[in-house]
Amino acid sequence: MPEIKISIEGLTKIFGKNPSAMLKLVDAGMDKETLLKKHGHVLGLHDINMQLHERNIEVVMGLSGSGKSTLIRHINRLIEPTSGKVMVDGEDVLAMTPGALRNFRQQKTAMVFQKFALLPHRNVLENVAFGLQTQKKEKSFIDHQSRMWLDRVGLKGYENHYPAQLSGGMQQRVGLARALACDADILMMDEAFSALDPLIRSDMQDLLLELQAELHKTIVFITHDLDEALKIGDRIAILNGGKLVQHDTPQQILLNPADDYVDRFVADVNRTRVLLAKSIMVDEKPEQNADSVTCRDDETVDTVLHTLLSEDGSYVIVENSKGKRVGYIDKETLADSVFQIEKKSAA
Ligand SMILES: Nc1ncnc2c1ncn2[C@@H]1O[C@H](COP(=O)(O)OP(=O)(O)OP(=O)(O)O)[C@@H](O)[C@H]1O
Ligand SMILES: [Mg+2]
Repeated sequence: MPEIKISIEGLTKIFGKNPSAMLKLVDAGMDKETLLKKHGHVLGLHDINMQLHERNIEVVMGLSGSGKSTLIRHINRLIEPTSGKVMVDGEDVLAMTPGALRNFRQQKTAMVFQKFALLPHRNVLENVAFGLQTQKKEKSFIDHQSRMWLDRVGLKGYENHYPAQLSGGMQQRVGLARALACDADILMMDEAFSALDPLIRSDMQDLLLELQAELHKTIVFITHDLDEALKIGDRIAILNGGKLVQHDTPQQILLNPADDYVDRFVADVNRTRVLLAKSIMVDEKPEQNADSVTCRDDETVDTVLHTLLSEDGSYVIVENSKGKRVGYIDKETLADSVFQIEKKSAA
């Protein structure tokens, strides 16, 4: 079982003059629209229960106003809940003293923002150093770390440039380097790539995945782009009107959408390009002794079918990234799953 890094329990946030008085109404089932019309309060989140796993990229998705930013801002208590609990590494964030909270924010969490939030009058190196300076580290350590992280995000040579001299993609690389330099376990990214052009955005997603393969942070990543969510998320949480409607792996969300809302969200995705071999493999070796082909558990089913057909195999041996055998898929199952999924996508 993966370790739980962040646990959110019964979290409700109501914005307005007298939120606690509204809690009863909301708990009794009043929806966001009625609460606003009748009582002038905004339902930000209602009864959110979710556990975010260590070393995962946990994506939070939903339409504008669904509560994504409100949710992420509870994790480091930039917002106080109306009711509920937030636990990080088993520690109750709401019970922290102001001093403990400050340390927690500076040392355990780092944020990357949509609008980069760089300091315009400081050069790139100084921007990256900013988080470390608030942590009051040694000057030589700060300098070394900042240069190292700038190099890691591909900006070596830009140390003395100012933010305004950089493109949007480069500015966000600085934002990412600044967040990573803090060495926090939890990285929170609120629409961090949303302002970037599609190609640059895709490069940034690749960079994030590459860094994560090494750093294994717990990343809470907000987006309203489904393709982005499917590409980078280990799991995806879908919010609708302040409620959590599903929190699962991308494969499960595509195969078993929890309700019509999620179904509509994922309707246009070509599932065969997302569904992985590991989600349809079985433990039992098929009976045929004929030719097998080998694939990786993280290959998509359409790629695996293509390999099987082009090599004229009759079943697939599935291996993990370390080359260990983890399962089997027979030809019929593979063809059925691709065919059914394609039918479902077309429907
Ligand atoms: N400080 C506030 N005062 C009143 N209402 C608020 C406040 N902050 C957020 N809200 C409301 O709470 C709801 C959730 O907002 P939130 O910003 O979390 O949505 P979001 O999913 O991040 O949207 P977007 O995709 O547009 O960033 C919205 O209805 C919003 O209007
Ligand atoms: Mg938001």
